[in-house]
Amino acid sequence: MSAQADQKRLTAPDIRARKGGEPIVSLTSYHAHTARILDQYCDVILVGDSLGMVMHGLETTIPVTLDMMILQGLAVMRGSKRALVVVDMPFGSYEASKEQAFMSAARVMKETGCGAIKVEGGKRMAETIAFLVERGIPVMGHVGLTPQAINALGGFRAQGRDPADWEQFETDARAVADAGAFSVVLEAIAEPLAARITKDVAIPTIGIGASPSCDGQILVLEDMLGLSPRVPKFVKRFGELGPSIRAAVEAYAGEVKTRRFPGPDHIYPMKPKTK
Ligand code: KIV
Repeated sequence: MSAQADQKRLTAPDIRARKGGEPIVSLTSYHAHTARILDQYCDVILVGDSLGMVMHGLETTIPVTLDMMILQGLAVMRGSKRALVVVDMPFGSYEASKEQAFMSAARVMKETGCGAIKVEGGKRMAETIAFLVERGIPVMGHVGLTPQAINALGGFRAQGRDPADWEQFETDARAVADAGAFSVVLEAIAEPLAARITKDVAIPTIGIGASPSCDGQILVLEDMLGLSPRVPKFVKRFGELGPSIRAAVEAYAGEVKTRRFPGPDHIYPMKPKTK
């Protein structure tokens, strides 16, 4: 029996080839049900370490572990068939050495079946990115605001708003591209800087709070659905799921209290007696 799936998944080289072409559509997902919906519209589904904040109510992404990423990566792989699934490497799983990065990334790829991983950091991660790519692990980079470095950055704030800082971010994006990453996320950086990096690097840039001229865009799903209580300025709410969930839960609570639920359609009668 053929081991090929019926539906061919997009690969890192497919996304790499989209530089300057049709915009790459990307969102985060951590569950099978949302992945199933996203799969119809997204080229890339990112299992972001933002799951620590979104699913677990953590203040930052720092406490997220490799096991947490693998569990949700598996769920997203089960729910999707077509999109490239990229799993974030969590803080502490890849920075110590390129060997540590390889062992962690290999575990993620073996245990989830995902098509690529993402690491935060520019120039300082270039050697590691090259090491992973040479060993068959497709890598997405992430520069600008890198949430895992929140304690060093001093807070979640936009980067590169002073032209004096531009060189550092341009160097970072170039280093990631030259190291062989197939794409790079640009997070919360000044619009003209993001546009300039997009022109400058040979790989697709995927913006989040960056620029419409990026080669693609990504948002955290729960932020754009209106489920997250606090969102950064760059988030556009494309839905307001909070009020509809609240209304549904309120209606359920009311029907349970008044014994209107479960009704006749939602219970199992006895089998009819046979003689
Ligand atoms: O963890 C995440 O969701 C991310 C995106 C914000 C790009 O890294």
